[in-house]
Amino acid sequence: MDKVVIELVVNGKPHPLRVEPRKLLSDALREDCRLTGTHVGCEHGACGACTVLVDGRPARACLTFAVQMEGHAITTIEAVAENGRLSPLQQALHEEHGLQCGFCTPGIVMTFEAFLRDEPDPTEAQIREVLSGNLCRCTGYHNIVAAIRKAAARMRGDEEYVAP
Ligand code: FES
Ligand code: FES
Repeated sequence: MDKVVIELVVNGKPHPLRVEPRKLLSDALREDCRLTGTHVGCEHGACGACTVLVDGRPARACLTFAVQMEGHAITTIEAVAENGRLSPLQQALHEEHGLQCGFCTPGIVMTFEAFLRDEPDPTEAQIREVLSGNLCRCTGYHNIVAAIRKAAARMRGDEEYVAP
């Protein structure tokens, strides 16, 4: 298949690429942009491991063609920590043991970085509903939920959240 020339803007940086029209965004990020923090699990939209932000909204990179992304701003997990400083959500996941193997973690972070911007004071039920789009085979989810609640409290400037 003939390749086409496109430019992806990822984490504010332009990446001129030559890709087949069928190339998935997840593969373009990993193989062409060398940004391997975006993980690929199921490749059919079920696991959420490949979640990135497109114009600030979560999107499955495995269900998106790279050529569709011209003119859009893509944010990946590599841009979440600023100057080596973890985001409140990343820090809380670390503190609450919200990850084990870490395969699902980038997708969860991207999903909830966006969610907590829209919903700074979510209920546990809301968190669990959103989290249902990101599969984790290790943790049992409890500590992930605790970490998200802790991060939300800190981002609101509330008193320190103490996990139950
Ligand atoms: S790899 Fe994209 S949803 Fe699983
Ligand atoms: S920590 Fe291993 S899949 Fe979630």
